[in-house]
Amino acid sequence: MRFEEKARGYHAHASPQRRFAEALAAFAPFEPGDRVTEVGAGTGFLTRALLAQGALVDASDNSPAMVEVGREAAPSASWSVQDALGDLFPCHNLASNGMLQWAPDPAATLRRWRTAVHPGGRLLLGVPCEPGFRELRSLTGEGPIRWRDEAMWLRLLRQGGWDVRASAVMEHPETYPSAVDFLRQLHGSGVTGEPRLGVGELRSLLREYGRRFAAPGGGVVATWAWLMVEAG
Ligand SMILES: C[S@@+](CC[C@H](N)C(=O)[O-])C[C@H]1O[C@@H](n2cnc3c(N)ncnc32)[C@H](O)[C@@H]1O
Repeated sequence: MRFEEKARGYHAHASPQRRFAEALAAFAPFEPGDRVTEVGAGTGFLTRALLAQGALVDASDNSPAMVEVGREAAPSASWSVQDALGDLFPCHNLASNGMLQWAPDPAATLRRWRTAVHPGGRLLLGVPCEPGFRELRSLTGEGPIRWRDEAMWLRLLRQGGWDVRASAVMEHPETYPSAVDFLRQLHGSGVTGEPRLGVGELRSLLREYGRRFAAPGGGVVATWAWLMVEAG
């Protein structure tokens, strides 16, 4: 992932993530005045949705560039640079969207988060999940993150000491003008790792993608899927 380098691009290109962040906030809304600590807040898509509910948000990210853009986009939150995988300050409620999939040991992180959240507080979590990017993965194999399905994530949450109150998977097919536009958008938003393919391999990947995953009205299709969880 290259979020530090791509912070402004993320804000401009990450429209699916923005949609999932807004859906996540609506999935289990906070009450006006609730204090919420948000980690991996990026440029503030979820932050803004939480602020719109009247929550008081302490937002953080480990990328200073993301925090800078987030501060501009959601100035009424309190922003800081923080690693969400380390120990967190005690907090009332925790929210995170599109970050935990990058953790090398999500169960250990979830356990640390459980310790930080006051008894009676809750976790609002959004993560990409199966069958997201199934088209691309069928051609390239697994990428920089490990894809888990809903059952696997819920197991990790329980191992982390969370009691899952509600969960749902939101699946959304996105259409792009071409396979190259799809990959450019991923790249522009920082969600890809270092390039792993040579020019020839990339060309044949693009050709194959266009051939196998053409959208009915033109362009290509890519499936996005997001797990939303409320846990206490
Ligand atoms: C896909 S973006 C999601 C941003 C935002 N939550 C959203 O919904 O648009 C992932 C974010 O997690 C941040 N991130 C990755 N690892 C992190 C870590 N260990 N601690 C804090 N933030 C992290 C990245 O810098 C990036 O801003």
